[in-house]
Amino acid sequence: MSMESHRVIEVFKTIEEFEQKAAEEIIRATNQAIRDRGVCFLALSGGETPRRVYRRLGTEHLKNQVNWKCVYLFFSDERSVPQTDPQSNFGMARLSLISQVDIPQEQVHRMKGEINPTVAAEEYEREIHEAFGERQVRFDLVLLGVGEDGHTASIFPGTSIVKEKRALARALFVPRLNSWRVTLTFGAINNAREVLFLASGKQKAAIVRCIVSASEPTEELPATMVQPVDGTLRWMIDEEAASELKSGGGS
Ligand code: 6PG
Repeated sequence: MSMESHRVIEVFKTIEEFEQKAAEEIIRATNQAIRDRGVCFLALSGGETPRRVYRRLGTEHLKNQVNWKCVYLFFSDERSVPQTDPQSNFGMARLSLISQVDIPQEQVHRMKGEINPTVAAEEYEREIHEAFGERQVRFDLVLLGVGEDGHTASIFPGTSIVKEKRALARALFVPRLNSWRVTLTFGAINNAREVLFLASGKQKAAIVRCIVSASEPTEELPATMVQPVDGTLRWMIDEEAASELKSGGGS
């Protein structure tokens, strides 16, 4: 594990250990928020790597370590598809985690992939503010994956949204995917108490190295722009994803 300012990089020998420890970290951060403030505002990422961690988190032994009635669940991004579509991040989280835990449905805030994305993003912004009520709008934990092009959430290289700091959620068209997305912005992500990147597999080794070794944030690699203002940035990766890092995981 290496520490740079508030950045922690943890490398795990096997995918099983990675998934277990990532699930345990989500439990730790969630319970810390509940201890400190009575509630936890948690944003889930999409992607295959996070999905495997959610499935682990939803198992009998682990899920009962969280009082889900104190959790308010959000999403870091969503594809422009109905929640029943296999591409839906909400649909994936419902199958792997939400259906396994007793979180009140009114505390699950999905981005509506089935409606006009610009309207969905505006609605989501309002829904975030309503959910936080009088509280400071600050997620306790934002989970993120990272794409091989350096995107995170649905903030893709070369899109204008990399500059967005005022809005908490925005819609964007992603030319390389030829599709619309709704995503949290860096305005929301970098205000979190903890941001946790989850990455695994050899195919992520090059991008993990580029991001971790970047001397400064760059719009070409949006994941480098995840810099919590007053929070912890944690990377949890398996050895394959860490295989291009110098020993110790640091830059
Ligand atoms: C999405 C995600 C995206 C994802 C990364 C990594 O909606 O696709 O939010 O940011 O986390 O692309 O996905 P994998 O873990 O499947 O590689």
